Amino acid sequence: MKLRRSGVPCASRSRPSLWESYVTKNSIHPSLAGKVVLVTGGGSGIGAAHVAEFCAQGATVGFLDVAEDASRQLVEQVTAAGHKPPRFLRTDLTDVAALQAAIAAFAAEAGAVDVLVNNAAHDERHELDAITPEYFEERIAVNLRHLVFAIQAVAPGMRAKGAGVIVNTGSISWRAGFGGMPLYMAAKAGIEGLTRALARDLGPDGIRVNCILPGWVMTERQLTLWVDDAARKLIAERQCLGGYVEPADIARMATWLASDDSQMITNQTFVVDGGWI
Ligand SMILES: NC(=O)c1ccc[n+]([C@@H]2O[C@H](COP(=O)([O-])OP(=O)(O)OC[C@H]3O[C@@H](n4cnc5c(N)ncnc54)[C@H](O)[C@@H]3O)[C@@H](O)[C@H]2O)c1
Repeated sequence: MKLRRSGVPCASRSRPSLWESYVTKNSIHPSLAGKVVLVTGGGSGIGAAHVAEFCAQGATVGFLDVAEDASRQLVEQVTAAGHKPPRFLRTDLTDVAALQAAIAAFAAEAGAVDVLVNNAAHDERHELDAITPEYFEERIAVNLRHLVFAIQAVAPGMRAKGAGVIVNTGSISWRAGFGGMPLYMAAKAGIEGLTRALARDLGPDGIRVNCILPGWVMTERQLTLWVDDAARKLIAERQCLGGYVEPADIARMATWLASDDSQMITNQTFVVDGGWI
């Protein structure tokens, strides 16, 4: 099967390397220089692209993750690329007290957070019959709860500045009607509701709240676990565009949403899926 990316035949262009998929063709948004940016789940996957892109914009970036090796490797790569090193704070986001402490520690070092990218989630597959009350709580903790407490932690600093940007991460999965992960999809639907609610509540303080819905993004986890020939065929059939959605495609939407270029945009959801839904 021949897939294209930006009109370039597959045969002449392979997928970008992991690092290239994080930072490619980035536009510079001058308003992001010096901004304090916090990314959850920034150690790998789409989150690593957010970290790399915001660093490339000249922002002061911190990220929270449990994956130590990947996170340290990312710090090295970003630094080697000539950018200000991002600050990695090892944090389990399902531990609300630890999350609050990490955000406070980062803000004490870097200043109050200007931009929060709520990125982390875990798309573990599960069946309805196997859900227990404990498993329900665990899936909601990793896919929805930490977004609320991260926003709660950064909101006072943003209110004091009279400005701030929150970018939440949903998923096309529930809109497209996928199956096999009902709690993940319920949490992702909830994130859109949370975005709408808090855009209204925080707007008077100059805080913008938007949501990005990624399509099927070629992260290491997706490529390792699920992207086989059948999946490539499905992507080719469902996306309007040929080629693949890469982590940097999501990060570029986030940097634009975080910049002053989108200063009157809030309460919205932006789909980056090559036209899947
Ligand atoms: N990749 C896709 O195709 C896709 C599609 C739709 C939506 N999304 C969404 O995009 C976001 C990023 O997804 P991804 O594909 O990059 O995921 P990923 O699994 O590749 O990376 C997630 C990162 O979050 C970290 N993380 C997970 N649980 C954590 C915890 N409890 N504490 C701290 N860190 C934790 C992981 O270590 C990892 O670095 C998620 O919100 C996901 O739901 C992804």
